[in-house]
Amino acid sequence: MTRKFAVFGNPIEHSKSPPIHELFASQFDLAIDYRKILSTPEQFEQDIAQFFDDGASGCNVTVPFKEQAWAMCDSRTDAAERAGAVNTLYRNDNAQLCGHNSDGAGLVNDLCKNHQVELEHTNILVLGAGGATRGILEPLIAQRPAQLTIANRTVARAEALADDFQSLFAVSATGTDLSGFVGPADLIINATSASLSAQVPINQPDVIGSHTLCYDLAYATEPTSFLQWAQQHGAAQCIDGRGMLIEQAAVSFHTWTGLQPDTQPALEWINQV
Ligand code: ATR
Repeated sequence: MTRKFAVFGNPIEHSKSPPIHELFASQFDLAIDYRKILSTPEQFEQDIAQFFDDGASGCNVTVPFKEQAWAMCDSRTDAAERAGAVNTLYRNDNAQLCGHNSDGAGLVNDLCKNHQVELEHTNILVLGAGGATRGILEPLIAQRPAQLTIANRTVARAEALADDFQSLFAVSATGTDLSGFVGPADLIINATSASLSAQVPINQPDVIGSHTLCYDLAYATEPTSFLQWAQQHGAAQCIDGRGMLIEQAAVSFHTWTGLQPDTQPALEWINQV
């Protein structure tokens, strides 16, 4: 029996999720039909209900529906609860809509598993204080860094987000002037949307030391503006969000099927497209 999956978004044509999940499924002789579905905020809830009523096994949700998906869920995993956003949906045996967020685990798996990065006792600087940052904070904290700082153009948003996580970790907050931040950072993560407009969210090259790893959650055919800037200022390693995309997909796939795919073939594939 072919199991049905999809990714809902708007726009959605660019999505690479179908081939990624097909590469996973082929490792288990699992027949899947994974589609891209364009939705609208008005139609989204109905589209999701129809999709599962038609017997689908699960779906991913991408921009701009992650918060709407969160609000629709009957139950959520802890990761989804804290992220305030859901990118993985399924129905349980009682036909309840369940939500998970695999973005943060995807990031940490990419860093730790694919790039052998050790995050314990490190000094981490996260740029941005939107939904993308909220989704990655808890998995980063679980790696027990020494320091975790959120820097955002609108300082109040960084402060509010840091406050939300104080029960887990003493997260610091600052503006994009990085006042009070003592660098260099071991890891700088760009979780802003600045790359989409070819901008770099900070302009303090001294936060980059010769050992600093710079990571952009975004990716494009060319290195993002943040990674180009980081490279120019001597970052030890620059990594874009392709590996995170593959790893979050693997977590979603496991959530739906209980199967743990080898991500290597998909990583090789995405580095060629
Ligand atoms: P997402 O869900 O992708 O995180 P978001 O909630 O709109 O999207 O957040 C976008 C983030 O990128 C914010 O932290 C935003 O900063 P502000 O809170 O000050 O708006 C940040 N951002 C976007 N463009 C930026 C730029 N050119 N320079 C610095 N930060 C930028």
